[in-house]
Amino acid sequence: MLSLRSLLFSIFVFSFLVAICHGEICTVTPGPKGKDDAPAIVNAFRRCGQNGKVIFLNKTYHINSVMNTTALRNCEIDLQGTLLWSNDIDYWLKHSMSIGYQNQSTVWFLGGDNITFHGGGVGTFDGNGQAWYEFVKGVSNYPRRPMGLTIWRARNSVFKGLRFIKSQMWTMTIIHSKSILLEDIYVNSSSSTRRPARNTDGADTMFSDDITFRRWTVVNGDDGISVKANTTNTLIEDSVFYGLGFAIGSIGQYAGVFETIQNITFRNSVYKGRSQAAYIKTWTGKSKGYPPNGGGGGLGFIHNITVTNITIANGTAVFGINRCTHFTNGGEAGDCGTSQFQIHDVSISHIRGNISKDVIADLRCSAAAPCSRIGFDDVHVFNSATGNRSTRYKCDSVVDPKGTICARKKSQT
Ligand SMILES: *[C@@H]1O[C@H](CO)[C@@H](O)[C@H](O)[C@H]1NC(C)=O
Ligand SMILES: *[C@@H]1O[C@H](CO)[C@@H](O)[C@H](O)[C@H]1NC(C)=O
Ligand SMILES: *[C@@H]1O[C@H](CO)[C@@H](O)[C@H](O)[C@H]1NC(C)=O
Ligand SMILES: *[C@@H]1O[C@H](CO)[C@@H](O)[C@H](O)[C@H]1NC(C)=O
Ligand SMILES: *[C@@H]1O[C@H](CO)[C@@H](O)[C@H](O)[C@H]1NC(C)=O
Ligand SMILES: *[C@@H]1O[C@H](CO)[C@@H](O)[C@H](O)[C@H]1NC(C)=O
Ligand SMILES: *[C@@H]1O[C@H](CO)[C@@H](O)[C@H](O)[C@H]1NC(C)=O
Ligand SMILES: *[C@@H]1O[C@H](CO)[C@@H](O)[C@H](O)[C@H]1NC(C)=O
Ligand SMILES: *[C@@H]1O[C@H](CO)[C@@H](O)[C@H](O)[C@H]1NC(C)=O
Ligand SMILES: *[C@@H]1O[C@H](CO)[C@@H](O)[C@H](O)[C@H]1NC(C)=O
Ligand SMILES: *[C@@H]1O[C@H](CO)[C@@H](O)[C@H](O)[C@H]1NC(C)=O
Ligand SMILES: *[C@@H]1O[C@H](CO)[C@@H](O)[C@H](O)[C@H]1NC(C)=O
Repeated sequence: MLSLRSLLFSIFVFSFLVAICHGEICTVTPGPKGKDDAPAIVNAFRRCGQNGKVIFLNKTYHINSVMNTTALRNCEIDLQGTLLWSNDIDYWLKHSMSIGYQNQSTVWFLGGDNITFHGGGVGTFDGNGQAWYEFVKGVSNYPRRPMGLTIWRARNSVFKGLRFIKSQMWTMTIIHSKSILLEDIYVNSSSSTRRPARNTDGADTMFSDDITFRRWTVVNGDDGISVKANTTNTLIEDSVFYGLGFAIGSIGQYAGVFETIQNITFRNSVYKGRSQAAYIKTWTGKSKGYPPNGGGGGLGFIHNITVTNITIANGTAVFGINRCTHFTNGGEAGDCGTSQFQIHDVSISHIRGNISKDVIADLRCSAAAPCSRIGFDDVHVFNSATGNRSTRYKCDSVVDPKGTICARKKSQT
């Protein structure tokens, strides 16, 4: 005899299987004001994350707790409204989830195969970051201050037409992922007080391959996009950056650990910030302290970087290399010549616009591992203060440069 309970259970299991086979649509409706919508969202992904669709209406959803929605498959996500994270700093410091690198943590792990996440240009992630900007008072890496979205072990997936405002920390990280397209993305993490929106990178990548960023706008107080450890075959194009520009690194934070950044192209974009349009940064060769704020002594190489067709409006320089990232808590500068991390085959070409100096690029490489094959071609920028064309390069430990960029320095020494 079948009890009512097991009958109901069988019906439940049956409809669950039907949902998996035919693709169920889960429309998440927000609860009453003040209620945490995260459990309902996680539940929607549990029901419709495999061959299904999750829809967020044109409403505000309150996210007051961490979400882990990984291992999705053939899942479409339609965000018509706003996901608003709470500013309960105590909660997030206690519960943000470790990403397993640099002691960084996150509020949302999202991953799987063949995910299409679209926002139609209106779907918004609001990290409520002003509370964090006030709380950390300009400290770059505050332990357990979480990043927003973490795209985790994702494959063959698309993120399109999404807006990200006031990110808690880094806006998003793409990690352990492959073949991801992120296009028509707007990020604006501007502080509305004098506390800076530091460390609000537009996106960071690690241990990922074949990532495309297309048509991004990033307004923030830090790197527009930063490619980090073991990022390969990545393209950034048709974008506008207002913050620190495009960053390669920092890298080399883990003593003795081998990491690389290879085959990266940044092209057809505009830089409107107050710094250099693109730069490479590595930790020093001396390991001091622990991540996130300490480290150094890492090994590996940055190879085959292309920066081409960039327009600069009022930056400070076109490009830079800095081998001096060091333990910030202790404020211990120096050791810049000690990094053994290799940098070679970097090409900068077809650059137009205005910078605030005569120096196009400051290439401060490491004596322990000089940079090689760094080339500049068709760089036509002006010093906005004088109106004269900028022509100089500063070179330190650059060997075998392409062209004559370091000739002046050599003849002087
Ligand atoms: C979303 O809702 C807002 C009001 O909350 C409205 O102004 C806007 O037009 C709506 N958008 C769409 C696409 O319906
Ligand atoms: C997230 O969920 C996955 C299963 O999809 C699990 O393996 C992982 O441990 C969870 N992570 C956290 C931080 O709970
Ligand atoms: C990816 O998922 C969509 C549904 O979101 C589905 O229509 C499509 O066939 C899937 N693609 C592959 C290659 O499985
Ligand atoms: C970061 O992780 C290391 C271990 O890798 C640990 O020793 C250190 O205390 C951690 N630092 C913080 C601030 O959590
Ligand atoms: C960024 O957001 C601020 C409001 O927080 C707004 O004043 C500013 O215009 C936005 N910038 C851009 C370029 O969209
Ligand atoms: C990074 O990739 C290289 C191969 O290019 C590999 O040898 C190394 O172990 C990877 N590093 C980490 C930390 O996984
Ligand atoms: C870099 O690109 C070249 C040419 O497409 C390719 O042969 C090589 O495998 C790529 N390197 C990595 C690490 O993927
Ligand atoms: C360098 O990387 C680009 C992609 O960014 C790729 O098209 C090119 O083939 C690579 N060159 C070499 C020599 O690997
Ligand atoms: C250079 O980039 C601009 C966008 O900044 C684009 O409009 C233009 O088509 C690009 N030129 C080439 C030759 O790709
Ligand atoms: C650079 O400055 C010149 C002269 O002021 C101006 O005409 C030009 O538009 C500026 N270029 C950019 C990209 O801002
Ligand atoms: C660039 O600087 C000049 C002179 O300081 C200023 O007139 C112009 O508005 C600035 N352009 C941008 C795009 O900020
Ligand atoms: C700008 O260039 C002109 C012509 O070469 C030169 O006479 C002038 O001194 C330069 N101005 C500055 C501020 O360097």
